[in-house]
Amino acid sequence: MIGKEHLDFLRVTEAAALASARWVGKGDRNSADQAACEGMREMLGQIEMDGTIVIGEGERDEAPMLYIGEKVGTGVGPAVQIAVDPLEGTNLCANGTPNALAVLAAAIEGEGFLLHAPDCYMEKLVVGPECKGIVDITLPPRVNVRLMSKALGKDTDELIIGVLDRPRHAQLIQELRETGCRVHLISDGDVSVAIAVLDPEAGIDGLMGIGGAPEGVISAAAVVCFGGEMQARLVFSKEGDRERAQRMTGHADVDRVFQTEELANGNVMFAATGVTTGDLLKGVRYGRGYSLTESIVMYSATRTVRRIQTIHRAPERTNERGGSG
Ligand code: FBP
Repeated sequence: MIGKEHLDFLRVTEAAALASARWVGKGDRNSADQAACEGMREMLGQIEMDGTIVIGEGERDEAPMLYIGEKVGTGVGPAVQIAVDPLEGTNLCANGTPNALAVLAAAIEGEGFLLHAPDCYMEKLVVGPECKGIVDITLPPRVNVRLMSKALGKDTDELIIGVLDRPRHAQLIQELRETGCRVHLISDGDVSVAIAVLDPEAGIDGLMGIGGAPEGVISAAAVVCFGGEMQARLVFSKEGDRERAQRMTGHADVDRVFQTEELANGNVMFAATGVTTGDLLKGVRYGRGYSLTESIVMYSATRTVRRIQTIHRAPERTNERGGSG
């Protein structure tokens, strides 16, 4: 049975982070991702639940494991929807740069819900609790900046908005800069920025722009736990994307704005473990005979956000006489 506080899932992101951390800085994003997937899948298999991957590494024919629809867990216990990104920021890990994470969101069926989003792009607007109910993704970014500045009681030039550094965002970045606000450009990893927006100590006020839809749903689970707001629109760039989105989400109109509660709602949990040290979490570190991880675990039902440091002691080696040492 899943522990009441869902801390079992913490062990899952820790396992993915520990496995991929061995590939930090080695320039091999595929091996890093594969290690994270294997670590995550093995640990998921130990949880007493009838789990189904609703957001994963891709469709069954394109991903060897953690594919959409794959059954995970022991098969005994509650039915659980699971959204995973075993290594969020594969390039960040391969290059040894900040903010690579192992992340997972989960919802027990009947108690909570995660949108079954396809692997397309998603336009995202994420704000913290103070700006809930005042922003609107259909308004120009400069208007949202003005509304946020009023709600937060900050001058516009005191605001920081996180945006993925991509050519598609040239106009967004220009418009934001024209308002006077400060743009925090990231090379990858918009989940960590979404969490930073929610964390009052991180000093980031909003996330805007287009990133991955799977990462968007996982971020939405964190938004539900923190009481912030996320609005999103799916962006279709490939033929068949729209039909696939209709099929997967169950919505006929997939061009609409998805509000927070349509992305994730009810009792949802979120866990992330740092792979490389970033704004939010320290990455995996090593000592003599142990590894150290730092994670954040949130559960909407208990309204808790925990930061957890774990020491993982290496298995004891047995000496030739069968003793430990
Ligand atoms: P990966 O871990 O799959 O490399 O994704 C990282 C990421 O930066 C996400 O955080 C973001 O949502 C998405 O890629 C953006 O996609 P793209 O790189 O195609 O602009």
